[in-house]
Amino acid sequence: MNLKGRSFLTLKDFTPEEIVYLIDLAAEYKDKKKNGVRHDTLRGKNIALIFEKTSTRTRCSFEVAAHDLGMGTTYLDPSGSQIGKKESIADTARVLGRMYEGIEYRGFEQSIVEELAKHAGVPVWNGLTNEYHPTQMLADMLTIREHFGFLKGIRLTYMGDARYNMGNSLMIVCAKLGMHFTACTAKEYFPDDTLVELCRTYAAESGASITLTEDVDAGTKGADVIYTDVWVSMGEPEAVWAERIQKLSPYKVTKDVMDNAGEKAVFLHCLPAFHDLKTKIGREQGEKYGFTELEVTDEVFESEQSLVFDEAENRMHTIKAVIAATLGA
Ligand code: CP
Ligand code: NVA
Repeated sequence: MNLKGRSFLTLKDFTPEEIVYLIDLAAEYKDKKKNGVRHDTLRGKNIALIFEKTSTRTRCSFEVAAHDLGMGTTYLDPSGSQIGKKESIADTARVLGRMYEGIEYRGFEQSIVEELAKHAGVPVWNGLTNEYHPTQMLADMLTIREHFGFLKGIRLTYMGDARYNMGNSLMIVCAKLGMHFTACTAKEYFPDDTLVELCRTYAAESGASITLTEDVDAGTKGADVIYTDVWVSMGEPEAVWAERIQKLSPYKVTKDVMDNAGEKAVFLHCLPAFHDLKTKIGREQGEKYGFTELEVTDEVFESEQSLVFDEAENRMHTIKAVIAATLGA
């Protein structure tokens, strides 16, 4: 498998074999890291990390992964560069492409990261856009595979805003890898029809299935994985909170949902999560709308079934695999 020189923008661009290769490579790097085996084979190279939205996991994963591989990093924060304000994406790409071996971008429209990749002349990695979050998918798949031992045939139910980056990306990866994806949410939060149709073509090849349902009981019954994400994503206006809470409250992940899914079911969340009021936004919105937890109850989040911190750790190992494979470590 040779992914050298490729950008990593959405899993639509990758075959099932390539996706599995990256998960396998991440597992190898994880072993190496746990066993103290050095793997700094990209010494002397440098990567740029552009974050137009904030981050904990993705930024730290890129920085630690790059460091472990022997590389240097430059972090460009949401206000600390000229991108988009004084300098076009195409010009930025051509400048950074002269200095760095790879560029990570987190921000708004997918078209921005596509434009960067078109002009950079070096691999560009999508660290989250409004539409997709592909590095998160590799971490999620590694976590599921570590737990169940396999991916094909796994039934994954996503609850919440399924038309944004997380819902879209989970549907794509499940469809590519022969898993059964269910979006269990209010109709207006179903993924876009065109993407559903495309994923159905992947599913026809892989043996996956795609189900869209508003019925919580049917949508979660017997699921292996219950997955959710925040109801209001970064960059969305304050004004959407009221409607989200009203429409998505029936799709909160509760103990009843987990019990309906089954004893062996696990809970995943890309994080950060509103499972209590220990955050500024959680407290503010909680006071305003009278809740103490949002997309998932604290009980489920803190339960044995919750693998969210394994999942968070796996962000680093999988991002390392993406950097290594595309830079030819
Ligand atoms: N899951 C995720 O992307 O987390 P960050 O926003 O902290 O990077
Ligand atoms: N949907 C969330 C994912 C965060 C990792 C967001 O875009 O804010």
